[in-house]
Amino acid sequence: MLFKQQAWLRQKLLVLGSLAVGSLLYLVARVGSLDRLQPLCPVEGRFGGARSQVELPLRALQFKRGLLHEFRKGNTSKEQVRLHDLVQQLPKAIIIGVRKGGTRALLEMLNLHPAVVKASQEIHFFDNDENYAKGIEWYRKKMPFSYPQQITIEKSPAYFITEEVPERIYKMNSSIKLLIIVREPTTRAISDYTQVLEGKERKNKTYYKFEKLAIDPNTCDVNTKYKAVRTSIYTKHLERWLKYFPIEQFHIVDGDRLITEPLPELQLVEKFLNLPPRISQYNLYFNATRGFYCLRFNIIFNKCLAGSKGRIHPEVDPSVITKLRKFFHPFNQKFYQITGRTLNWP
Ligand code: A3P
Repeated sequence: MLFKQQAWLRQKLLVLGSLAVGSLLYLVARVGSLDRLQPLCPVEGRFGGARSQVELPLRALQFKRGLLHEFRKGNTSKEQVRLHDLVQQLPKAIIIGVRKGGTRALLEMLNLHPAVVKASQEIHFFDNDENYAKGIEWYRKKMPFSYPQQITIEKSPAYFITEEVPERIYKMNSSIKLLIIVREPTTRAISDYTQVLEGKERKNKTYYKFEKLAIDPNTCDVNTKYKAVRTSIYTKHLERWLKYFPIEQFHIVDGDRLITEPLPELQLVEKFLNLPPRISQYNLYFNATRGFYCLRFNIIFNKCLAGSKGRIHPEVDPSVITKLRKFFHPFNQKFYQITGRTLNWP
């Protein structure tokens, strides 16, 4: 009798136990799938033409973090691309420059946004005649896979200073959004020099000092033939662009502020691109070893920019710096006036 009761009790416990485990497993699975199926992350559609509000599935986020990488490496079949509704889209926004302004940091940081997909490489389609001759389909095929609701962004800093580029971009898309990230012109010129110097040193070549290149030894004036100086005359380049695009199609990013306080700068870009604010302080953390903000995509994945970003600049004669700053001053004033963005440059 006692034995029978014990057996009955054990059986009951077993049934209850399996029910509890089953329910738990169901809940875990349900929560997981709910998370995946949670449908909407609205993206305002300035880019969507008539659609004022497009909806970005949350799977886009997962796609960005995992699948995207595989697609880029070419590890996926055409079938998978079709299944995921993936497309290679022409950019809706381009970071056109300025070289050493922080173009890579800007692109990588914007890529934190679930609605943005970056073209990892500089494509140099519009500034390189040989590439341009290959046609727009060649350019499109260089773009990463994305969901139709996402926007593709590429950066090629040489675009800003290359004569033919504005007209070529205009022919592709006259309503494209153009991002220009600038730094205080003298600092940018020294950064530019530092990059070239490093290249020379890598090849065991000697190079001139910055002072020698930036100042004409005969006249003691600023040497406007030196490319690093010319590139920093932002207003001159911008004026060429304004022959094709109205100023409203440009957004100026303060590259110096992007270094020290990236979030507000990124929020301004989100606004300009008509994207809902999705980049948060969680996505950006200061790395004291690097001396820069780094990127946090999620609890597992974070990254800092490569060591080639954030080089130590050589010391430059203060009188040369003063001379350069004085030289750039009127051009800067004009730049502020045209763009409507005043920056704290000396
Ligand atoms: P320096 O190397 O002179 O410090 P670009 O990507 O256009 O070549 O610009 C490079 C510059 O981006 C670097 O110039 C660096 O100062 C700046 N930068 C901005 N944010 C950065 C970040 N989070 N990490 C590294 N560099 C960053």
